[in-house]
Amino acid sequence: MRLLFHLVALLLVTTPCLGWGGDGHRIIGTIASSDLTPATAAAVRELLGDQTLADACCWADEIRSDHRYDWIKPLHYINLPREATAVDMQRDGANGQQVVAGIERFRAVLSDTSRPREERLEALRLVLHLVGDLHQPLHVSYAVDLGGNRLSVTSFGKRSNLHRVWDTDLIQRRLKDTTGGWATMSADLRQAITPEQRAAWRAGRDPVRWADESFAITRRLYAEPPDAQEGVNEAYWVKWMPTVAERLQAAGVRLAAVLNAALDPEAGQVVKPSGAKVP
Ligand code: ADE
Ligand code: ZN
Ligand code: ZN
Repeated sequence: MRLLFHLVALLLVTTPCLGWGGDGHRIIGTIASSDLTPATAAAVRELLGDQTLADACCWADEIRSDHRYDWIKPLHYINLPREATAVDMQRDGANGQQVVAGIERFRAVLSDTSRPREERLEALRLVLHLVGDLHQPLHVSYAVDLGGNRLSVTSFGKRSNLHRVWDTDLIQRRLKDTTGGWATMSADLRQAITPEQRAAWRAGRDPVRWADESFAITRRLYAEPPDAQEGVNEAYWVKWMPTVAERLQAAGVRLAAVLNAALDPEAGQVVKPSGAKVP
């Protein structure tokens, strides 16, 4: 029994993940939570019950092995042709089976209070997760190598792949230097957001543009690969950690704006970090 428990625990911690790792999603949710209006925060609480917002951000990855949810799998990412320079929803839309359409679909369900509670709860968990995923550059990438999942690289001396480096490894490297883990990192990143950044991120409401930003980074990641000998090393981390930080910050601010628009009928969308509405 004990052995079985340990085997199951091992499986849980070693299965690859389809989004930012748990820490990335929790950081995004925590940054978002401080930008919610009181009405939005109350509506979120009411839907989530006992589950914390940070945990709810990870739900879409946790149910991956449950085949009833197989329909969610293509909704974590969007792939583009090699020669593309920007997203074209006609070309890349995959009949709505991708992350951009997923965000649109579930934010509509979330805001529709005539829908059953269970359906709105699932929509909330998906919005929380997918806004995060769309900001992971390699979730807007290429089908050939599964968004870098098939691109093996050494990362800080261990076997990894380019996708995993961006989901997890770069954030783990920063957390190694952070006492207090993802909660401290969330607070640090939130405090570092300038008023100009917050205003710009809130003003851009179109997820297609968020996808374009991710794809622009993805193209650089393929043009400027990790060192051929060492793989992902300290220099790669120093070069790209500011980009990781900015994607987490933008995702958090935009997630809050999506939730406020969906759940607070009075949200004029201009909200101070304290949650107070600006007249
Ligand atoms: N599977 C196929 N493409 C992917 C991508 N861009 N991100 C994550 N998983 C994928
Ligand atoms: Zn995901
Ligand atoms: Zn991922």
